[in-house]
Amino acid sequence: MDHFLNKDGALHAEDVPVAEIAAAVGTPFYVYSTATLLRHFHLFDEALAGMDHLVCYAMKAASNQAILKTLGDAGAGMDVVSGGEYLRAKAAGILGERIVFSGVGKTRDEIHLALSGGIRQFNVESEPEMEVLNAVALELGKVAPITIRVNPDVDAKTHAKIATGKSENKFGIPISRAIEVYAMAGAMQGLDVMGIDVHIGSQLTDLTPYELAYQKVAELTEELRAQGHNIRRLDLGGGLGIPYERSNEAPPLPSDYGALVKRTLGHLGCEIEIEPGRLIAGNAGLMVSEVIYVKEGEDREFLIIDGAMNDLIRPAMYDAHHDIIPVVEPAPGAEPAKYDIVGPVCESGDTFAKHRTMTPMHAGDLVAFRSAGAYGAVMSSEYNSRPLIPEVLVKGDQFAVIRRRPTFDEMINRDTIPEWL
Ligand code: LLP
Repeated sequence: MDHFLNKDGALHAEDVPVAEIAAAVGTPFYVYSTATLLRHFHLFDEALAGMDHLVCYAMKAASNQAILKTLGDAGAGMDVVSGGEYLRAKAAGILGERIVFSGVGKTRDEIHLALSGGIRQFNVESEPEMEVLNAVALELGKVAPITIRVNPDVDAKTHAKIATGKSENKFGIPISRAIEVYAMAGAMQGLDVMGIDVHIGSQLTDLTPYELAYQKVAELTEELRAQGHNIRRLDLGGGLGIPYERSNEAPPLPSDYGALVKRTLGHLGCEIEIEPGRLIAGNAGLMVSEVIYVKEGEDREFLIIDGAMNDLIRPAMYDAHHDIIPVVEPAPGAEPAKYDIVGPVCESGDTFAKHRTMTPMHAGDLVAFRSAGAYGAVMSSEYNSRPLIPEVLVKGDQFAVIRRRPTFDEMINRDTIPEWL
């Protein structure tokens, strides 16, 4: 459920007409709903009630500081994967003790930054990383809290580019070698081995892979405890999917997921962390774009809009479906039409949808891409020298620009021409 509803024929973000935002900031832009972000955070928080837990929002999904602060104020921790994300979370007021550091290739500098600035834990992904972490901790006279990410060799049954829990993926250490690697970690003076981390992929629409992975984590917890490790924290990753195609998708709910966590891991008495990104931000954001032209092709009509693959890359990159809806409802009785919906970028991959049934559209009409809050703005680029598009946050009847559109000069003047030219 989200808070983008049609009222009197006009799409609203909470209580604000989307067309009003378009008039104020220009198109294309992203708009997020505070109430939807909070609703999704609370669903997870409630799903884990009764267990000692922290919901660490995977900020890679949407990392604007206004979003981080909204969630942080509600009690969320953060999952970060780079020095930049760590500093952004800190800038948004998130305390180091509520930040977990994930990622397969943390550099020495990033480790140094987070260890000196304060961190809840590092999720270690390899032995060489563990050695660097230990060395930096000893240099700083600190003890680094860690979990070790294990790769449970479970098929998450999701898009190949976002599955992470099979043995052929680059993530974590093979669960078969866990005992050995934990023994190494346990012997390092600079590390406090607190627990286990697992994340098997993203946009999971079935709970079975979680069940298989968490059963393996439960067994491993008992084995490691028997070896003398004080395993007291389990980071279970993120990945719960959202309905992108609302007419025919109904992925499991956070409450089902919470019940699964309790069933598989509750008896261990560990503190539970989860790292959801998409389910918190995905349906809390739209990308809004304007139709530039309606073009007659040989056998189809193209809706050429001012948003492009550089603004929302998911369809080009993962063949992802986004529902695309008109911002103003057409007059009753309008015959639906079929369009290929495309952006102005110079490649055929800049196609958002093919043969999509829509109400009849005209130049100047606004369309909204649903489910664009996660992995939308954060994955955008300036390809074709198109400036990054603005982000807007709505709360009730208020809205604010939370990242403005840069000017062409700001974009162009980052280049430097060497003296010899
Ligand atoms: N934790 C770790 C260690 C992760 O790698 C990820 C996502 C998450 C948590 C959050 O997963 P979520 O709850 O959002 O599924 N750009 C792709 C998705 C990439 C996901 C990468 N890792 C997309 O647009 O579908």
